[in-house]
Amino acid sequence: MTTTPDLWHQYGRARAATDRAVPEAFYWDWGQEGEPGAEVLGDLTGLRVADLGAGAGRHAAHLAARHRPERVDAIDASAAQHAIATDLYGHLAPRLRLVHADVVPHLRSAPNGYDVLYSAFGALDFTDPRDLLPAAAVALRPGGRLVFATLAHYLGGEPAEADVTNADILAKRPDGQPTTMRRWVLQEQVWTGLLVEAGLIDIAVDLLPALSERARTAGTLLVAASRPTDVTRK
Ligand SMILES: C[S@@+](CC[C@H](N)C(=O)[O-])C[C@H]1O[C@@H](n2cnc3c(N)ncnc32)[C@H](O)[C@@H]1O
Repeated sequence: MTTTPDLWHQYGRARAATDRAVPEAFYWDWGQEGEPGAEVLGDLTGLRVADLGAGAGRHAAHLAARHRPERVDAIDASAAQHAIATDLYGHLAPRLRLVHADVVPHLRSAPNGYDVLYSAFGALDFTDPRDLLPAAAVALRPGGRLVFATLAHYLGGEPAEADVTNADILAKRPDGQPTTMRRWVLQEQVWTGLLVEAGLIDIAVDLLPALSERARTAGTLLVAASRPTDVTRK
């Protein structure tokens, strides 16, 4: 685990104080208001699922409570986010498992461990995809699927990157001091190339437009890929 300051210390804290419900709906879009929903993940009955960078665990709680997976692992590297998720949704164990971990080593240590991996503006956005995507490919069983929502462009409106380059975006340490964190905002073809390099196939990318006009709204890239069924693991 990292010993650097937890830059997700405040994220979602105000909402968690007033909204403790298991969400009725599952949203992929940045505004958390439009279609599609959890159906994109397919029938989850009996499947092992993981949310990569689950934050407070709202998406994972929805899947655990309203669908019938064998298990949903809500994985997050932030101690603060893990604590919020534990407070809100710890009661959904054992179908919901709240995991405090960096997803890269977690996935590397779980070969063939998951049927479905997904992320909603989570670890995929904040972790070097050249590390994360190969780890995800290892953790998927043959035929398993990865689905993730990520920014289609920067929140200020600037276009996504045309190569595998991160931005250093503004963040705050727990003591309020300003700092930066790395965020990957990549064009569709860049994601596609990275997924191919990681050995994934059947890649599909949908653009979900921003539905509202409010400031710092954004379009969403909804990206899906699969691990081939005919691979043999050494
Ligand atoms: C913008 S929040 C999104 C949280 C949640 N998916 C949601 O929709 O509210 C991003 C989350 O990703 C987590 N994260 C980023 N990189 C990660 C990594 N490599 N491993 C685990 N969690 C990570 C952060 O700790 C943070 O909680």
